[in-house]
Amino acid sequence: MNEMANLPETDLSAMIGRLQDSGVNIYGAGKIGERLIEAFRHYNIEIKQLWDVKAAEIGELSGIKVSLPPTAENAEHLETTTFVSIFAPLIAEEVKTKLADMGFAAIYTDRRLINDMMAEHCLDLDRQGAFEYDFNKCILCPLQKDDYQTCSLYDRHVVGHEVEAQDDAPLVIRSIGLLITSKCNLTCVGCNHLRDHYEKQHNVELPSEVVLADLSRFLQSVDHLKTLVLVGGESFSHRHVEKIIAGVLAEPKIGMLQIITNGTVVPKPAALALLADERVFIEVSGYGSNVGAHLVKKREVFFDRMAEYGINYRYAEFYKWTDFGGFEKRGYSEEEIRDTYLKCCFVSNDIFNGELHKCSRSAYGKFIGHIPDYPEDYVDLRRGSKEQLRERLRHYFADEKPRVCNHCNGTNTATIEAGVQKKEKVLA
Ligand SMILES: C[S@@+](CC[C@H](N)C(=O)[O-])C[C@H]1O[C@@H](n2cnc3c(N)ncnc32)[C@H](O)[C@@H]1O
Ligand code: SF4
Ligand code: SF4
Repeated sequence: MNEMANLPETDLSAMIGRLQDSGVNIYGAGKIGERLIEAFRHYNIEIKQLWDVKAAEIGELSGIKVSLPPTAENAEHLETTTFVSIFAPLIAEEVKTKLADMGFAAIYTDRRLINDMMAEHCLDLDRQGAFEYDFNKCILCPLQKDDYQTCSLYDRHVVGHEVEAQDDAPLVIRSIGLLITSKCNLTCVGCNHLRDHYEKQHNVELPSEVVLADLSRFLQSVDHLKTLVLVGGESFSHRHVEKIIAGVLAEPKIGMLQIITNGTVVPKPAALALLADERVFIEVSGYGSNVGAHLVKKREVFFDRMAEYGINYRYAEFYKWTDFGGFEKRGYSEEEIRDTYLKCCFVSNDIFNGELHKCSRSAYGKFIGHIPDYPEDYVDLRRGSKEQLRERLRHYFADEKPRVCNHCNGTNTATIEAGVQKKEKVLA
């Protein structure tokens, strides 16, 4: 491996100057890649090559053609600095090793450096009076997705809800999912909330008081939660979703509220009024016409309401989903479990019925009895003192070998068509 591959770069402006002379390669044409491109363009840094294993699917990103990653036979621009913009650290390190073996001179995977580069771009815009807080962008910003950092522009946006450390080792949590109902008006095949495996009795709606009490137990043991993600099933089908939204927005330790929805259940006016808060962001998952003509019309009404109430939202059409596979034990070794977990991009840390699980598959898999109860995998939020809970949470977040991953393909595997409806619905 080349000596330069691991050099720490501490002086950002010197680095920017150097990159303006040499240009950059980027490996990874996802959200981080998109933000990096924006930052490099701001600094007039030329992007020489943009690679991704899904090049054919992506085509181009921000006007730049995406190519398949280089091989030993066709690698070029070896002297150009390469940034690996992949969120999963284990995959980023594997990529770095491969590129270094091909002879690439300087390869950066260090998230802190990549984040600093992007934050500096925003701060620079702010100094020029050209920065506008854009929820669509900031919620996807890798800096927001990091546990160790917040950003001063975010702190300014969520004023009144900033980090307040309880001790010398602050517990700042990037994101938590709040599963408030397993009910949904759809039954998608392969749904990561496992709805296509439900029997009727698995359709449950948690009382809003219970949901808020569990959340408050969690919050009293941490210092800050950057983003609370409200999910169901379909959270807008919860009869008292407005009470939950109001409770979340009133919590001083929560920065932002994101709601993931299929966009076919139109919220009531009381909920819509609350959603107009600038700390709220709605992410609408699109399943095209798979949802049926009637619900396509409902989705149009949904968008009309979003516009009418001035609500921040984004619509993303899904074509492919991950195939997590069946529930049987795979027989992975300890290292394979760790590998599966660290490469997984569905670790959503979901609270369901008083338990904090690594992902919805763990929470709902245990609930419907398809995955064994592994008490070491999750945190029972209703047990113990505030201090004990804080310790258990630290332990939980440090766990890289949850047993549930032994019952899963992980996310580095086959895909299925998104949002295909199961013929027999499991409506309550
Ligand atoms: C389970 S849904 C729940 C929220 C809401 N009902 C919806 O469909 O948006 C949460 C998110 O997970 C995505 N999702 C569900 N199953 C998936 C899978 N097998 N692979 C990838 N994403 C999946 C959905 O598209 C959605 O964006
Ligand atoms: S809309 Fe589909 S993906 Fe979302 S919870 Fe319902 S069944 Fe699952
Ligand atoms: S079980 Fe493990 S690998 Fe599967 S989705 Fe959950 S965290 Fe990811």
